[in-house]
Formats: sequence, structure tokens, C-alpha cells
Amino acid sequence: FVSQIGPDAHMRMILRKPPGQRTAEDLEIIYDELLHIKALSYLSNTVKRELAGVLIFESHAKAGTVLFNQGEEGTSWYIIQKGSVNVVIYGKGVVCTLHEGDDFGKLALVNDAPRAASIVLREDNCHFLRVDKEDFNRILRDVEANTVRLKEHDQDVLVLQKSLRPSSHGNIPVHFKYTVMSGTPEKILEHLLETMRLDIHFSEPDPALDDFVLMHCVFMPNSQLCPALLAQYPASRINPSICPCLCPMCTYHSQASQGSEQERLDYAVASKRRVLSLALRWAALQGHHLLEDDTMVGFLEELHGFVSNDSRVLRPLKELLPELEKIVKQYPDDARTSQKKHKVLLRQFSSGEERLAKKQPIRSFDDILLKVYCNDHTYTTIRVPVLGTGREVISAVTDKLGSTEELLLINLSASGEKQILKPNDVSVFQSLGVNGRLFVCSREQLDLLNPLPEQEGPSTGSMSSFELMSSKDLAFQMTQYDWELFSCVHEYELVYHTFSRQAYRRSTANLELFLKRFNQVQLWVVTEVCLCATLSKRVQLLKKFIKIAAHCREFKNLNSFFAIIMGMCNLAVSRLGQTWEKLPSKFKKFYAEFESLLDPSRNHRAYRLTVAKMEPPIIPFMPLLIKDMTFTNEGNRTFIDGLVNFEKMRLIANTVRAAKHCRSQPFHAEASPASKNPQEVRNYVRQLSVIDNQRRLSQLSFKLEPRRS
Ligand code: CMP
Repeated sequence: FVSQIGPDAHMRMILRKPPGQRTAEDLEIIYDELLHIKALSYLSNTVKRELAGVLIFESHAKAGTVLFNQGEEGTSWYIIQKGSVNVVIYGKGVVCTLHEGDDFGKLALVNDAPRAASIVLREDNCHFLRVDKEDFNRILRDVEANTVRLKEHDQDVLVLQKSLRPSSHGNIPVHFKYTVMSGTPEKILEHLLETMRLDIHFSEPDPALDDFVLMHCVFMPNSQLCPALLAQYPASRINPSICPCLCPMCTYHSQASQGSEQERLDYAVASKRRVLSLALRWAALQGHHLLEDDTMVGFLEELHGFVSNDSRVLRPLKELLPELEKIVKQYPDDARTSQKKHKVLLRQFSSGEERLAKKQPIRSFDDILLKVYCNDHTYTTIRVPVLGTGREVISAVTDKLGSTEELLLINLSASGEKQILKPNDVSVFQSLGVNGRLFVCSREQLDLLNPLPEQEGPSTGSMSSFELMSSKDLAFQMTQYDWELFSCVHEYELVYHTFSRQAYRRSTANLELFLKRFNQVQLWVVTEVCLCATLSKRVQLLKKFIKIAAHCREFKNLNSFFAIIMGMCNLAVSRLGQTWEKLPSKFKKFYAEFESLLDPSRNHRAYRLTVAKMEPPIIPFMPLLIKDMTFTNEGNRTFIDGLVNFEKMRLIANTVRAAKHCRSQPFHAEASPASKNPQEVRNYVRQLSVIDNQRRLSQLSFKLEPRRS
């Protein structure tokens, strides 16, 4: 019998039988066939045996037949047994062709997302093996290939990998989903829009989208993202009666009427909602950064135009329109320009006076006043934009001085170290250390440049003022100040800092101030100890700092907590054996415990466990977050074979999320301890004056307790 009708026909006959009617021998024959199919080669034999029981044969006679349309719900997975199909995407046309042995249609099943493409027969008489959704979920969902590569025009455009994603609905069991590993920026965007959930509000977290929205600046600048998003908004351009792929050559053209008009209209509306939700999510994250980029504002205005037009007839868009309106109306043209032009920060970064008032975030379009010194220690004050480059600063100074010489711009540290700032560097003032100053001089004068006397820092300690303040008050005021600084740091600053603010020409001034504060607190501890000549007083000081650190920890201010402990670990302090010897054992024990939290082993496990147990609001140990991001950046390429390494973006976004989590609850200043002199304490902690010169600190330390012979 088999020889009469040929093996293929026999096979087809078996496969046409309803699965329940297949005999053991039939199953064996199907199984043998499955062993030779490329798309199944990675599956275990047990899975193949199970598939033999459920596979259904499906054939179509005519080229141009549409198997399913982009945007439809996925009901089956297909393997091509004979023939070939085109993968067609709206607006792109045919993106690739699949042949015998290839498979398609599993993305929608695994991700519970609409079909990412339409599938159209490329030739007459094609044969498929089909697995329906229920069987797919039962047999394959969790054993399915780990990696899926999607191609367009023979190039990889998206690499997905299965990962365990806990479901956000408590009662739905955890299962695997595809996550983006790498891809072209456009394809990643397209995929995220397709798989995005429309049932959650744009203000709720959606990790995959949030990763994209946060990190896109690294691989897809606004000038590229905005048009790409608009292109994904199937604007009034698409009339349902016209071919959706807009491609005159496409085989889809003649057959496109397969999906009903209503279905296609629904799909277009859903696509619009997706673009709109993503844009709202994006704008919400931007905050004041939105104003810094005209492309962004222009895009939102254009989108607003489309949406208000559409929302008259499309109800689902109407709900979101007011949100978009709120954002667009917030920035009428004149407000935008006037804010940009008239904002001046009368703040002097180079003398540490920023301590006096720091409530409002510094924005890239603000201006600042900078003091720039000459080698005779006279100075000029200039006004430059926060993003001012080395060149701009030099030219402003040259103008003021009426100088004809070619000047260099130097960051001079308290210890006399000179860093020549490059003409193209942006926000040059940010590179200054705690007591650093900006200088200009000619190349010949460079060697003669000396720090100002004030850069040396204090010559007497301030213990007499702060020993009278309660440790708890001090810790509280320090925490409040840290909160102000931390709150001003925009999430994007963490990204710019990690990838180089020079490359993005963006300011990270708020982050820099926060990090500088960490150094300042650390130096405060070392300075005070090294300037305290009496042994018994020094012991008091150590006790005081341990107490302040303990209170900082209670206030969940890990940044200042670690700054204090690291100050105490500084060699100039830790080598003072006679002082430490006199420290009561209770304090020694506290200190040992605190110090153990600094232990870097196993990737700072001790610290990470401590934070994991805390509830926000928390002020994190910022230098460690920065280190995490820098390590991830340096250890992983941003592009792999021309595709964006999205896995790396996710890792960095995770750290930013950790910072975000820390401030997801407000810090309640009213929890302030009953204090006799809050204003005095507040002023004190905001004006710490320190020695920022390790050599000088060591010398002082040796003078206090000379090396024992
Ligand atoms: P699914 O989204 O379920 O339905 C359309 C299928 O086309 C999709 O799964 C993939 O299996 C397949 N496909 C192949 N290449 C691409 C591509 N470049 N973009 C989207 N889908 C593709």
C-alpha cells in the first residue's frame, strides 16, 4: 500500500487523521519523520513523540494565501514541510522568506502577544505541520528553544531568549517568556510595542518598556526615536482599504482582505494606543529633561495633534488624551524659551558654597557663575551655561581679562595636582574635587601654578562646635541634606555618568554634587581627627563619629554612614594606634560591625543583604551603585555584531531601578528629633570645611602619633 501511493502521501494520510485516531504504528511513522525536521532538531525525543500525537497536517493550494495577519491573536505554531512563505510586516513589506524545515508563529504563543507579522504563501501547494495553542503550551512552551533569531533581509534584527518572568498577576503561574537580548533599535522598539500590555496604566512599572525608555539614549537618540515612534503610529495615513504594508510589489496586496476590516481597524487603534502609552511613559520619566530637547517637545506636540484628531472617533484614545495634553500644555512655546533664557543660578561651584542652598535640580539649560583664578590668585567671575565647554569658559575669561595669550583651563586640586581641561569637555566645573578650583594660565606658567591658601582647608578642627550638638541631630540634618541632593539626581544622570556625559553632552551636575558630598563627609572625619591634638579628645571624636554613623544607619542614610566609616578607615585615622586603644570596647565592637558592612567580598554581599532588609526611603551608598554600573558598562559591549546589546541595557537599568526604589517613598522631615538648636546644626553640616590633601592629612597624623621605632 505504501509503495503504491508513495511515502509522502501515506504520511499525509496519517497526519490528516484526527489525533485521537492515530494508531501506535502511525505515531511511529510520524515520529520518524519528525526526526528529520530542522526546526525540531533541538527538541528531545520524548517531546517529539508527544508532538507526533498532536501535529496536524495543513495544506494550501494557492500562492498569496494569508495564513494569518499581523496583529491577530496567535492560535498555532507552524513548521513548513514543503514550500515557502513570506513574512510581511506593515509598513515594511516582505522582511524575509522561510523555507522547508523552518518554523514560525511561536512568538505570539509564548509572549501572549499579537502576531508580529503576517504570513503569506510564496508558492502554490505548500504543506505545513501545525501545533495548536493548547498543545503547544502543554508540550512545548517550557522546553522550547532558548534563543530565537528574527531576520529581515537576511540580517539578524532581533535576538530573543526565553527567561523566567514572574507573572504580575498573582494567580497566574510563573512561566517563560521571550526577552530581548539584542536587536536593531527599530526592531527592539517594534517588538516592545507589540508585546506591551495595554491593560496596565503607563505610570505602573513595565520592566521591559522602562528599560527601553531609560536606556534608549545610549543606542537610539531622540532624533532617531521620535520619527521611529511616529512611524509606528499608523496615522490617518492608513486607510483600511489600502494594503497595510504599503508595498506595491507585495503578495499580500491581492490577498489582504482576508482579515476583516473591523479586525484591521482594531489593530490600528491598538497600535496607536501602544505608541501613545510608550510616549507617556517616556515623558513621565523625562521630567524637566523634556525641556532640554526640542526634538522631544516637537514630537509630543505632533503626536498630540494626531491623537486629538483621532480621539474624536476612536474612544480608546480619548482616555489617554488628557494625559498627553497635560504634558504638552505644560510647555507652551514662550514658557519654554523664557525658562531657558532667564534662569541663572547664582551659585559658585568652585568655592564649595553650593552647600548653602540646594533644593532645586540643576538643569542643563541653567547658567552658573564660575570663579576662575589666575596664577597670581586674582579671579574673574564669568557666567556660563551648565553645559559650558572648556572652550566657552576660556573664551569668556579671555574676553574679561582682555588677554591676547592662549590660555589653558586647569582643574587645580588642593594638593597641587593639575588637570588640563579639554576645550570640548562639557560642564567643566563638575570635574572639581571638594577643594578644587578652576585656573587659567599660559602653557609657560603652568609649572608655577600654586593652589590658593584657602584650598588647603582649615588649620584648626571644629570639634568645639559640633561636640555640643547631639549625634542624632547631626545625623538627622546630614540625612536631610543628603535627601535634598539625592532627590535632585535625575535617573538619566546615572546613565550619562556611566556612559560618559561628554559623549551625550549632558550635564550630570546633580549626581556630581551628591558624590562630592560623599567625599566631603569622608574628609570631614579625617580632617577633624587629624586636627585634634589631644589624645583624650581624639577618643571622644571617634566615639562621636561612631555614634553619628549609627544614627545615619537608623535613618537609613547609607551614603553618609559609609562616608563616615570610610573616613575612619583612612590610613591617617586608622594608624592612630594609641587613640584606638583607648576607645571603649563597646565602641570598638560597633565599629567592627560597621566596618564589616564595607567588606567588598562576594560583590559587597554584606552591604547588599543589609539594604535588602530595609524598606524605602533609603539613601543608598551611591559610589557602589556607580561602580556596579561602570563594571557592567566596561565588562560588556554595547553593540554585538551591529545589534544593540539589550541585556547590558537591562543590567544597567536594574541598578537605576535600585536607586529609584530607594526613593520610592518620601523622606519625612517632620520625623526630626526634638532638637535644641536645629538651625545651628543644619548650618554646620552644610558647611563642613575639610582638608582635601591626603599628604597633608598623613603628615598631621604622624605629628599626632609618630611612628613607633
Ligand atoms: P508570531 O509573532 O507568532 O507570528 C509571526 C511570525 O513570523 C513570528 O511569530 C515569527 O515566528 C516569524 N518571523 C520571522 N521573521 C520575523 C521578523 N523579522 N519579525 C517578526 N516576525 C518574524
